[in-house]
Amino acid sequence: MEVVIVPDSAAGGELIAEAMADLLRRKPDALLGVATGSTPLPIYQALAAKVANKEVDASRARVCQLDEYVGLPAGHPESYRSVVLREVVEPLGLDQDSFMGPDGSAEDVAAACVAYDRALAEAGGVDLQLLGIGTDGHIGFNEPCSSLASRTRIKTLTQQTRVDNARFFEGDIEQVPHHVITQGIGTILEARHLVLLATGEAKADAVALAVEGPLSALVPASALQLHPHATVVVDEAAAAGLKLADYFRATYAAKPDWQGI
Ligand code: PGA
Repeated sequence: MEVVIVPDSAAGGELIAEAMADLLRRKPDALLGVATGSTPLPIYQALAAKVANKEVDASRARVCQLDEYVGLPAGHPESYRSVVLREVVEPLGLDQDSFMGPDGSAEDVAAACVAYDRALAEAGGVDLQLLGIGTDGHIGFNEPCSSLASRTRIKTLTQQTRVDNARFFEGDIEQVPHHVITQGIGTILEARHLVLLATGEAKADAVALAVEGPLSALVPASALQLHPHATVVVDEAAAAGLKLADYFRATYAAKPDWQGI
């Protein structure tokens, strides 16, 4: 995988937004897989700025969710549908028809998971999938020991993830759902380009294990090692545990300008 070390989260956001803009210039109706959480927000801000400055036309872009809480009432502000509408779809000026996600309030959750995998395939597959990484090494909500071949399905959150996400629920862990629908690791690996952004020292151990550790279900993000086009963008703090940091810096510095990530 390609590892790019950037000075800070704003630089990571700009780099990835430019990769997304470049994709949209080549393929205006690209299907962009978006992630939630705090980390990707600088990406969405940078991409919205490019659209506002007319550096790229995103009007035909399509957007799909990575995961969703199960059981939050429709329209709950922290449902990932609401978050993606607020942070991505509206700022980019897209209409809701261009946006798809798993139905976290479905009566038959298992059927909703199968339907979502099918919908992604029928849409032609994800062109670029953004990912964050959990402090426990998860991608999407594929918690440790998720099958590396898993499809979209219901998962139970670890206590660590519920603690990490309580900040979105007034700091009250009791409000954080126990269950989620997440694209499986096998599903995620079908995207044409995976781009993981990690910032801050709390992610350093998970990043080091994912990038330099063995392929392991215990560290779901290590599955990126299986993908032919995976880019990991980290700030200096999140890169702190990488033994090969100097090599990654030298490799990226030697890359021709036109190559992008
Ligand atoms: P965060 O979440 O960006 O809010 O840290 C990342 C994740 O859990 O994947």
